[in-house]
Amino acid sequence: MMRAFFLKFLFSLLLFSFHNISYARDTITSTQSLKDGETIISSGGSFEMGFFSPTNSQNRYVGIWYNQIPNRTVVWVANRDTPLTNTSSVVLKIINPGWLALVDGNNNATIWHTNTSRQVPNPVAKLLDSGNLVVTDNANDESPENLLWQSFDHPTDTQLPGMKLGKNFVTGLEVPLSAWKAENNPEKGEYELHIEPKGYPQSIMRKGGNKVYRSGSWNGLRWGGTHGIQKKSYVIDTSVIINTNEVSTSFKVHNSSDLVRMVLTSTGSILLYKWADETEEWKTLRNAPTDVCDTYGSCGAYGSCNYDNFPVCGCLDDKFLPRDKVAWGKSDFSGGCVRRTPLKCQNVTSNGFLKYSGIKLPDTEFTWFNTSMNLQECEQVCLKNCSCMAYSSLDISNGQNGCLLWFSDLIDIRVLPEQGQDLYIRMASSDLDYPSSSKGKKSKIIKLTSSVLVGILVLSLTLTVVIILYKRKKKEINLKLKWEEDQILFEVSTITKATNNFSLNNKIGEGGYGPVYKGVLDDRKEIAVKRLSKTSKQGLGEFKNEVNSIAKLQHRNLVKLLGWCIQGDEKMLIYEYMPNKSLDSYIFDIKKRALFDWSKRFNIINGVARGLLYLHQDSRLKIIHRDLKASNILLDIDMNPKISDFGLARSIGLNETGANTNRVAGTLGYMSPEYAGHGVFSIKSDVFSFGVLILEIVSGKRNRDFSHHQDHYENLLGHAWKLYRDRRLIELVDEHLVAPCDLPQVLRSIHVGLLCVQHYPEDRPGTSSIVHMLANNVELPIAKEPGFFTKTKVNDETKSSLGVEISCSINEVTISSFSPR
Ligand SMILES: *[C@@H]1O[C@H](CO)[C@@H](O)[C@H](O)[C@H]1NC(C)=O
Ligand SMILES: *[C@@H]1O[C@H](CO)[C@@H](O)[C@H](O)[C@H]1NC(C)=O
Ligand SMILES: *[C@@H]1O[C@H](CO)[C@@H](O)[C@H](O)[C@H]1NC(C)=O
Ligand SMILES: *[C@@H]1O[C@H](CO)[C@@H](O)[C@H](O)[C@H]1NC(C)=O
Ligand SMILES: *[C@@H]1O[C@H](CO)[C@@H](O)[C@H](O)[C@H]1NC(C)=O
Repeated sequence: MMRAFFLKFLFSLLLFSFHNISYARDTITSTQSLKDGETIISSGGSFEMGFFSPTNSQNRYVGIWYNQIPNRTVVWVANRDTPLTNTSSVVLKIINPGWLALVDGNNNATIWHTNTSRQVPNPVAKLLDSGNLVVTDNANDESPENLLWQSFDHPTDTQLPGMKLGKNFVTGLEVPLSAWKAENNPEKGEYELHIEPKGYPQSIMRKGGNKVYRSGSWNGLRWGGTHGIQKKSYVIDTSVIINTNEVSTSFKVHNSSDLVRMVLTSTGSILLYKWADETEEWKTLRNAPTDVCDTYGSCGAYGSCNYDNFPVCGCLDDKFLPRDKVAWGKSDFSGGCVRRTPLKCQNVTSNGFLKYSGIKLPDTEFTWFNTSMNLQECEQVCLKNCSCMAYSSLDISNGQNGCLLWFSDLIDIRVLPEQGQDLYIRMASSDLDYPSSSKGKKSKIIKLTSSVLVGILVLSLTLTVVIILYKRKKKEINLKLKWEEDQILFEVSTITKATNNFSLNNKIGEGGYGPVYKGVLDDRKEIAVKRLSKTSKQGLGEFKNEVNSIAKLQHRNLVKLLGWCIQGDEKMLIYEYMPNKSLDSYIFDIKKRALFDWSKRFNIINGVARGLLYLHQDSRLKIIHRDLKASNILLDIDMNPKISDFGLARSIGLNETGANTNRVAGTLGYMSPEYAGHGVFSIKSDVFSFGVLILEIVSGKRNRDFSHHQDHYENLLGHAWKLYRDRRLIELVDEHLVAPCDLPQVLRSIHVGLLCVQHYPEDRPGTSSIVHMLANNVELPIAKEPGFFTKTKVNDETKSSLGVEISCSINEVTISSFSPR
């Protein structure tokens, strides 16, 4: 009796464990089926297949996922539109006539099945190590002609290496990516990604059937509408086939041990992911669309979207006018633009072509192309046909080859300064200004004249200062000089008296190049005096630079230069006095933080953004500050922010976007990766620093000193991004921030901050967009992983980049590095 009980117990234990351990098999046949919970099908390598439920969902699906990585990442779903709620009786098996099917054992009902074109005696389903599930008539032969069906022909939201998207004209099969309905719901969603064969083939994302984003056509190097991809080490090779049999694209990984997948998310993002073993997470390599200018046709026909402008939409140039001026004025750009001079085409010589460079080529749905024609032949063909609106070359991988002609209005153009292409647009001769044969020369002349003008301006400014310096030195006369209306050359004696002979009591701070004192002039006016240290030869350059940069600037969010003082070794800059000192003394101070409410913080974020916009865009010279940080933001009596310390500022030509230096100077924790690593500075490196500043203002923590208890290897940026990714942004907010605060505004500010600190400059918004995004409830692009920048990384990057020197300092002081003479 006892023994029988024991055996029974043992037996039930066995049964129990059998129920919970699934075992792997590698094929499915009519007799060997796949049961929920009991079996998985293994590819023998990277992939496996079985029943699963998405997170927080009760529904059961059959799907394929990676078998080596901890978080289940599903790459294909069989019954996406017919979820199972009770799977105990459902199995996946092969049924007649060679269908792979989900069959309910209770009533033999087929819940889902594949199709097949022909019938074979013993079909077998097998999961290949590419992640492709195939039905074949012979388990040992997976050659394409033996395949009855393959999951690669019916993808869900994921493209794996080796999978072709596109259209086969012979079989009529079209293979798009089709997004999930929601993150946890594999049902067919709204977004689809197609390679569309009409006209010149292009990659288009549609939402509910409407075009929403166009990666564009393949130009031999990349999809023409993609941007912001600058990685030198490439992970995948993309191939595109365009012929009479098919139009398709696929990719393969460079290193076969890399796990790479491309996903169309339920929210309409195209993401290329690579698995990172070290951190055990999927890293985003590419991301599109990235900004409002990627939205299909956002500026209408002949409109051009420029993310650095505000508003972003404009007509291509002044040879075009808004079609509906009133709507345009109300920011409705859908009507687009029309030619200033309408085309008349009785006689082809009354037309010609204007070249537009650095743009994303317009929609190619209504185009004609020829791969063997060159650009001259292309122009001739286009000129002869009055409905041909524009032409360009097809392939730019090796010079300019092929011919693409547009036979419709030109839509979905954006400015892409680095990765854009040339487009030749048909214009009335009166709008050409010059014979069409000398095309290209004109834009060069414009560039030349404007850079000469800028050069002259900078030169004359510098000369003036040099002359002043020279005169001061030679004659040693204490003259008062008028610069702009109220900037003056102060006498040393005046300043000595005002600052109580530079008494320690008057010292209010220490800048990058010397101490700062408070002073009171005879008329009781308060001033701040920045005294450059006498011993340092370095000071003179920065001094001149600061005078040059700031003398002509006037903006309520920039600290005002009242004048300066040069006498012998003594060099001083005299500013308006800011009673509330600098921002860092509030946001990083435990006691003061509590009194520093959200509306004050937001006012500061906005003010700094406007000051930056003025520097970058609205002032007569484009100025890059290069050392934006909390201690360089001064606060006036009403707590309005003013950007100060222009010692490192550089003005760049109006047509330039940035420059290169081999003297990297700035402050750790605020420097963008490309600046610290390679000396490349631009408006976008200031934008990076501003992003750090936003995150510091919101969190009340310094980026440099930041350490988080759980995962201390990341800085504030990394921490913020992880919270953003996990939808826990609220946790970033300073715990001392007193309620009430406008939560959506707080979250929007953090989101904008994250966009500003993106790794690649192209991914960061322009300054005008920042101002716009902060003030308006517009949809923000998804932020990617930021450009992490820690002290150790500086050293790594410095070693690797030739000709760039950088010295690191431990304290929060501007670093200046000089090339040896
Ligand atoms: C299901 O089909 C099998 C074989 O085709 C058959 O033997 C069985 O009786 C069927 N069951 C039901 C409930 O129809
Ligand atoms: C099988 O064909 C039908 C009808 O053409 C189609 O609706 C269904 O999606 C196909 N099934 C699969 C798995 O491809
Ligand atoms: C491929 O990647 C693996 C793992 O990351 C690495 O060990 C190997 O060196 C790489 N191979 C090549 C050829 O780069
Ligand atoms: C493309 O251009 C070449 C050279 O002009 C010509 O020989 C060829 O017929 C053209 N192909 C088509 C399809 O028009
Ligand atoms: C111009 O091109 C269009 C589109 O290819 C074509 O339909 C039309 O016949 C052409 N016109 C002339 C005069 O060649």
